[in-house]
Amino acid sequence: MRRVPVTAVPIRWGDIRRAWRTSGPHRADALRTVVAAETRQRHAFLAGSGSTALWMLLRALRQFKPDRTEVVLPAYGVPSLHLVVKKAGLTSRLCDIDPETLGFQMGDLDRVVGESTLAVIAVHLFGIPQPLEEVAARARRVGAVLIEDVAQALGGRLGDRPVPHVGEAGFVSFDRGKNVSAYGGGAAVTSDERLSEMLRSEEAALHSMPTARHGLWPLVLPLYMLAMRPRWYGAFFPLVHRYKLVAPHADLVFSRLRPLQASLLLELWPRFEPINYRRGLTGRYLNDWLRRLPGLRLPRVPEGAYPVFNRLPVIFESSAVLARVQSNLFARGIDSAVMYPKAVHQVYPEAGEGRSLPHAEGVAPLVLTLPTHPYLRPQDLETILDVFETCLGR
Ligand SMILES: Cc1ncc(COP(=O)(O)O)c(C=O)c1O
Repeated sequence: MRRVPVTAVPIRWGDIRRAWRTSGPHRADALRTVVAAETRQRHAFLAGSGSTALWMLLRALRQFKPDRTEVVLPAYGVPSLHLVVKKAGLTSRLCDIDPETLGFQMGDLDRVVGESTLAVIAVHLFGIPQPLEEVAARARRVGAVLIEDVAQALGGRLGDRPVPHVGEAGFVSFDRGKNVSAYGGGAAVTSDERLSEMLRSEEAALHSMPTARHGLWPLVLPLYMLAMRPRWYGAFFPLVHRYKLVAPHADLVFSRLRPLQASLLLELWPRFEPINYRRGLTGRYLNDWLRRLPGLRLPRVPEGAYPVFNRLPVIFESSAVLARVQSNLFARGIDSAVMYPKAVHQVYPEAGEGRSLPHAEGVAPLVLTLPTHPYLRPQDLETILDVFETCLGR
């Protein structure tokens, strides 16, 4: 049965073949140049994952300000950011979110940012660029650095400025499910010369992925490519589903980018803009329809923002209605996912300082994310809207 996954990147056999043929150390240089140009930053440094890129950034910053030990993170979003902070020998301070935008709640940010803050990490969640001038001002007031998490938003813009747009640094991810993906990979970007010197040494010091994980690697890309295609995804679903149900990360492995991933990313890059353009259109189309329905909220897209919707988030008022919509979508061949079902401190209690963070806790189980990738056909969009209208009683 045709089944549409929540995230997918159109990779072709030819891309993998050419990536194998052209793979080599020179491709890493080319990719650094491309990533820096895309983010309009002077420097890009490659890593085996977005988490590794963030880890390199935190380690580099720590060398400038060794007396600062805290990193501010949003309490709703990717929980494993907390593990990266911990592995860099630092402490997470969670900030509650604004339920309208899913960005930081400014009052709470004032409470958690202070003299011990090394960095504030702001996330352009679901590919919706957030204006961060106020966040940057608060960070700078106390001498902290703003890092923009562009893992889901590479290619997104505010006005004519790509993200990261105001932070001293940013990082991207090429992991599964990202808009451009090589089944893993990431990069740290900055225009700061001093920071870039440190990052250069951090990148050079990264190790290759442990051999145990290397062994099956040649099989992974073709399987990944097939598993994302709606014609095959149904057949792969039992396997993919089991793989998706893994518990939160207990630990992270930091490594360098594989040469094959660098050359695959370069093969995919010319398609990156059209992919983002389609994601933007699909997200806006669904967004405009769904926001008219009762019992739902769509996060506000900031004025002048060009979102690249890694997924389209829909916030329900009731988890029973969410579950009904999700199972009806599934029955009609459309996958969706609750993201992220728990706030960060509900996954890693040590991050929470025993505080309750009501907006993050309240929103977390009520966000259903919908696909926006280029494998969606017009009739899939109609199916999605039909399911929503039927379940929400219009
Ligand atoms: C917003 C965000 N930040 C960071 C990461 C971590 O990236 P990676 O999986 O490449 O380590 C992810 C990946 O899921 C993400 O979505």
